[in-house]
Amino acid sequence: MNKPNYRKMKSPYSSWIAIVFATIFVSFSWPAEAQSHENFLQCLSLHSNGSSSISKLTYTQRNDAYTSILESSIQNLRFSTNATSKPLVIVTPSHASHIQATIRCSKQHGLQIRTRSGGHDVEGLSYVSQVPFVVVDLVNLRSVDVDVENSSAWVEAGATIGELQYRIAQKSRTLGFPTATCHTVGVGGYFSGGGHGPLSRKYGLAADNIIDARLIDANGEILDRKSMGEDLFWAIRGGGGGSFGIVLDWKIKLVPVPSTVTVFTLTKNSEQNATKLIHQWQLVAPNLPEDLFILLIISRANPGEGKGSIQATFTALFLGRVDKLVSLMAERFPELGVTKQDCTEMSWIQSVVYLAQFPGQNPEILLDRNASSKSYFKVKSDYVKQPIPEFVFKGMERWFEQEEGRNASINLVPYGGRMGEIPETETPFPHRAGNLYNVMYVTGEVEEIQDIRKYINWIRRVYGYMAPYVSKSPREAYINYRDLDIGVNEEDKTSYEEASVWGFKYFKKNFEKLVKVKSLVDPGNFFKHEQSIPSI
Ligand SMILES: Cc1cc2nc3c(=O)[nH]c(=O)nc-3n(C[C@H](O)[C@H](O)[C@H](O)COP(=O)(O)OP(=O)(O)OC[C@H]3O[C@@H](n4cnc5c(N)ncnc54)[C@H](O)[C@@H]3O)c2cc1C
Ligand SMILES: *[C@@H]1O[C@H](CO)[C@@H](O)[C@H](O)[C@H]1NC(C)=O
Ligand SMILES: *[C@@H]1O[C@H](CO)[C@@H](O)[C@H](O)[C@H]1NC(C)=O
Ligand SMILES: *[C@@H]1O[C@H](CO)[C@@H](O)[C@H](O)[C@H]1NC(C)=O
Ligand SMILES: *[C@@H]1O[C@H](CO)[C@@H](O)[C@H](O)[C@H]1NC(C)=O
Ligand SMILES: *[C@@H]1O[C@H](CO)[C@@H](O)[C@H](O)[C@H]1NC(C)=O
Ligand SMILES: *[C@@H]1O[C@H](CO)[C@@H](O)[C@H](O)[C@H]1NC(C)=O
Repeated sequence: MNKPNYRKMKSPYSSWIAIVFATIFVSFSWPAEAQSHENFLQCLSLHSNGSSSISKLTYTQRNDAYTSILESSIQNLRFSTNATSKPLVIVTPSHASHIQATIRCSKQHGLQIRTRSGGHDVEGLSYVSQVPFVVVDLVNLRSVDVDVENSSAWVEAGATIGELQYRIAQKSRTLGFPTATCHTVGVGGYFSGGGHGPLSRKYGLAADNIIDARLIDANGEILDRKSMGEDLFWAIRGGGGGSFGIVLDWKIKLVPVPSTVTVFTLTKNSEQNATKLIHQWQLVAPNLPEDLFILLIISRANPGEGKGSIQATFTALFLGRVDKLVSLMAERFPELGVTKQDCTEMSWIQSVVYLAQFPGQNPEILLDRNASSKSYFKVKSDYVKQPIPEFVFKGMERWFEQEEGRNASINLVPYGGRMGEIPETETPFPHRAGNLYNVMYVTGEVEEIQDIRKYINWIRRVYGYMAPYVSKSPREAYINYRDLDIGVNEEDKTSYEEASVWGFKYFKKNFEKLVKVKSLVDPGNFFKHEQSIPSI
């Protein structure tokens, strides 16, 4: 596959580097690069502290394990092809001092760092760069230390959401944390971008429940909330990963959950009034009591299931018992026709497993980092502030009828509740009061690499179709559904004006403060990627 064109490098210097760099991987024949990479390894071993040697945790293309480690957490196969640029070195630290050494040595030898926790970055930014780079993969830093008495926990950045929920559940049936549904997402990236999910209507984002953190900055210093100061602590809770340093661990406030919750999943096709129900959902879901979350997924109808090409899947999590849920649904959303038979009561942790799409399985599945399937895909996002007219959803039928719509989905995550109460400036994440729901467009799983361009064009056309009905000026987007279509940094020097194009979509006016913080804490712009906060 060719490099995606949005990664195009504008300065002649950087395209030169990119070409030379691509050559090294094939031939190892570029002496200066080979030299800096040798020097880097030597530097690491010098910084290594005798009791735990970093060399055993360091992989180059000469190691047999290099490829399997690199590929281990890549979710989007678009960034795992022969043409994808690969890191010179992968470091898998088991101690903070290894990260400090990696930062200092990378700086000394002109290498960029990409930090990876769960590897779910939808544009691959945690493991792909167009300049010579090192991946710091936090897979060995994933302990979770739960303090039930104080309803808090320290979680290392390399842990997944599934590991976090599992460890909490081992200690308590009535404590949880607001996370995503996909359990293999890493807390390193997810918390850094805010993190919405089924508990957000009740407790806000994951980032709203972080009470301390340890960050290693561009000088290799370990900072906690007190020593980093409130502005930097603000920035790392929603300003997006990879801009301010490497988060080592987070201290989080756990939230109460009932020991028994109730779930249902109902799918309606066109003959069952799918578009009418989708339209109605917009009026209902963001205004429900905070204990009830109803996710809506629009996708192509199962073949043979009546006329019309789309279906609407409603998946609910209710923090309470079944009888209350059924009566609440009858009162607030009678059109959906939910009955007691549609619902299942279960423990909190079983609901995490259910929403992760492994209903009924043993919670141990949450510890399996390989459980989600890998494919080629592209994601885009929107925010909706006014209910969209029904004909727009009706019009989606023709999109899903196209070949590219076969595995695609449009996922609607309701906001409201607690999300609307938290001020827009409280964290960098600005999509609070006034937002009915978030939209995530996914091409769906494409199995063949040669098809992907077609699917990307399709999702861009759908995004164009939706433009009149979603937020405007700016057309807001969610940083965790990263989309390089909305703008990328220049490799050499990004101006505030250039970056503010994508910056205001993700952060609105909070972008200004993020740039101020970045310019203070990382004036040399050491931590950078295609959409990192620029240092001005
Ligand atoms: C299948 C799938 C399902 C998803 N579901 C949801 C969902 O339900 N809700 C939701 O909000 N999001 C969801 N996301 C998006 C997800 O939250 C983001 O992609 C998130 O950034 C992934 O975090 P990660 O640690 O897995 O990713 P990574 O790729 O490891 O990192 C993402 C970004 O953060 C940086 N980063 C990672 N670790 C650190 C660290 N320790 N310190 C500093 N920077 C770091 C990386 O360099 C990169 O820029 C989903 C994504 C996928 C692929
Ligand atoms: C060296 O590593 C060990 C174990 O990884 C750690 O406990 C110790 O604090 C480290 N020492 C320094 C000076 O970083
Ligand atoms: C996941 O895959 C990695 C290699 O990619 C392997 O080392 C690990 O054992 C696997 N884990 C599980 C639970 O299968
Ligand atoms: C990728 O590279 C491998 C090894 O060099 C080769 O066997 C394979 O055919 C290549 N794949 C593609 C799609 O070019
Ligand atoms: C709970 O927090 C308090 C205050 O921070 C602390 O003194 C106490 O030791 C903590 N309890 C436990 C069990 O760690
Ligand atoms: C669809 O909606 C109409 C009008 O509201 C209603 O009469 C009909 O019963 C609904 N169909 C189904 C299958 O629910
Ligand atoms: C994608 O769609 C095709 C054709 O409808 C189907 O065969 C394939 O299984 C789907 N893939 C996934 C992962 O659903």
